[in-house]
Amino acid sequence: MVSKMIKVLAFNGSAKKNGNTSKLLKKVINHIKDAEVEVIHLIDKKLQACLSCSFSEVDCVYPCRIKDDMQEIVEKIKKADALIFASPTYWYCMSGLMKNFIDRLTTCDVAEPPIFDGKVVATIATAYMDGSTQVTLQMTAPLTSMGAIMVPYNDVYTNGGKLWRTEFGVTPDKRLAKNIIQLTKLVKSKQGKWFKS
Ligand SMILES: Cc1cc2nc3c(=O)[nH]c(=O)nc-3n(C[C@H](O)[C@H](O)[C@H](O)COP(=O)(O)O)c2cc1C
Repeated sequence: MVSKMIKVLAFNGSAKKNGNTSKLLKKVINHIKDAEVEVIHLIDKKLQACLSCSFSEVDCVYPCRIKDDMQEIVEKIKKADALIFASPTYWYCMSGLMKNFIDRLTTCDVAEPPIFDGKVVATIATAYMDGSTQVTLQMTAPLTSMGAIMVPYNDVYTNGGKLWRTEFGVTPDKRLAKNIIQLTKLVKSKQGKWFKS
């Protein structure tokens, strides 16, 4: 029996707080029932670039050596059961804001077990024409490598305002919301030991 309220934390990697990415994220969130949801607009946060400590004389540590808004965000990540990463497509890539943020998540990966271990994660991307599939894949690769469990049908994106993909009678935003909650309940009811072999 899952008693604790599910906490979902979402990150908007667009410079616009009410742009296409935020609107698509809201569509998904509106379908999420019985959960606490918080959205962090990365544009509001002071997040310096990663200093690549891992590959110099000093090691990457948890918490991160850089003292900015990352500490507060990492505390929220620790408390979250599920996370959503939403980014616009900038030249066939995720936004610089989102890339910088994911680089800074390296600090979560050096904690034992890693902070993303067993977190349920979903990705969302928007594009004017082309490139949003790449963006969802670009975000998925590092997050799954950090221990995240990606939801089934993980990615939801729009190209030119058209929500992918409706041709089979599927509503992707609704499905993603449902799958986030369903998988989170499953993971919370029987937390696995994913990190150790
Ligand atoms: C710097 C920049 C690069 C972009 N590159 C692409 C691109 O490669 N492919 C594309 O389809 N749209 C591209 N776009 C359009 C945005 O991806 C699209 O308008 C997106 O929905 C914007 O989201 P937002 O309103 O949340 O900022 C680009 C926009 C900007 C500002």
